[in-house]
Amino acid sequence: MDPLTPVLSDNWDADRAWTLASYEHQGGYGALKKALATPQDDVIEIVKASGLRGRGGAGFPTGMKWGFIPQGDGKPHYLVVNADESEPGTCKDMPLMLASPHTLVEGVIISSYAIRANVAFIYVRGEVLHVVRRLQRAVQEAYLAGHLGSDIHGTGYDLELVVHAGAGAYICGEETALLDSLEGRRGQPRLRPPFPAIAGLYASPTVINNVESIASVPCIVANGAEWFSGMGTEKSKGMGLFSLSGHVNNPGQFEAPLGITLRELLDLAGGVRDGHELKFWTPGGSSTPLLTAEHLDIPLDFESVGAAGSMLGTRALQIFDETTCVVRAVLRWTEFYKHESCGKCTPCREGTWWLVQTIQRLEDGAGTEADLETLLDLCDNILGRAFCALGDGATSPITSSIQYFRDEYLEHLRRGGCPFDRHAATLFESSAATAGASA
Ligand SMILES: Cc1cc2nc3c(=O)[nH]c(=O)nc-3n(C[C@H](O)[C@H](O)[C@H](O)COP(=O)(O)O)c2cc1C
Ligand code: SF4
Repeated sequence: MDPLTPVLSDNWDADRAWTLASYEHQGGYGALKKALATPQDDVIEIVKASGLRGRGGAGFPTGMKWGFIPQGDGKPHYLVVNADESEPGTCKDMPLMLASPHTLVEGVIISSYAIRANVAFIYVRGEVLHVVRRLQRAVQEAYLAGHLGSDIHGTGYDLELVVHAGAGAYICGEETALLDSLEGRRGQPRLRPPFPAIAGLYASPTVINNVESIASVPCIVANGAEWFSGMGTEKSKGMGLFSLSGHVNNPGQFEAPLGITLRELLDLAGGVRDGHELKFWTPGGSSTPLLTAEHLDIPLDFESVGAAGSMLGTRALQIFDETTCVVRAVLRWTEFYKHESCGKCTPCREGTWWLVQTIQRLEDGAGTEADLETLLDLCDNILGRAFCALGDGATSPITSSIQYFRDEYLEHLRRGGCPFDRHAATLFESSAATAGASA
């Protein structure tokens, strides 16, 4: 049986899928009509009952988040869509917005209606200009069709939707840094509490959700909470976009119920590239601890991946075969975190710099075994002590790679350099046995 469940991606191959005409031809904006005829609190209850959990990484229940917005408080409410998508390996929101921006726009209107917001924002990574243009055009089309603006569909409900292009900083995907950036300040995380649901954008109650979370709302309203919760596992309901990249024959997005395994996804993606075997992978982007071939059959849901010592994150499955030097891969990721550290707190600002120095020394084969303990000690001083989750995430690839591939770090020291041939992308024969044993 085909394990795929194309819902969000169902119309991606339709002719000019990004246009309003194509989207409406496929039944688009039907859920909006249904939602506008339903009391706001009931829409929130439907989303709660569906079991939808945030698709931006942390998996917080979406309906519960909406329920935190105080009602009748006389303040403006805002919906902000997090479309910054910057986690290395993560590539699901951009394809979704490129292929079917109206799925997101319809989700924004329904979600804003539910939380009684009259202004909504899509904060999109500005470097991805073609996506920004698609969104802008879709929003324009939605205004012209009466899906946005004043008195939507004659119901008396008003909504303005603004597409805001960010300048391209990973930290601006962190929800409170995103709010500061949207307000025109330098994007740095805010102290919580107060949480955005109480004092978010312009100090007013604000819901911030990931693109895929909001894009999942129309299908839930259209088909019902039970339909959605009928997919997935007991605590991780519904379907999600799994992005396979790296050493696979057929990389791309695969939409499947939560709980599918990497083994099943690799089958769909044509397997690890021919003649090679899986060495390590990330279940949800570079901030989630690495897993290995022994984890191929773990159900990809929030609980099971957590129990295996990692996190489901953004379901960005980066696949690395045996030709990859894990120390070098970890060095690259750590350089990214050092570069993207916003500098607000000392453990991350100073710590990520020291992490790069130490891993670089090990990759060059110039360090000593004590450097491994220094690395773990540095990670220990960052994890749980940094101001936001960027610092925590920076430690994940390091601690997990030392856990699974300690011997490969040591092989660098024994050889006085990297045991991998970077140009031929193959392991030197004499070290193959060592690396194989550690994998
Ligand atoms: C450094 C950092 C970067 C993040 N980047 C994103 C991002 O690009 N997109 C996103 O939806 N969430 C991102 N998040 C998570 C958000 O802070 C937030 O949890 C999410 O937008 C909530 O939406 P959800 O409940 O729908 O998942 C990031 C978090 C951190 C710490
Ligand atoms: S952990 Fe890093 S990114 Fe987050 S506030 Fe501290 S310095 Fe900034």
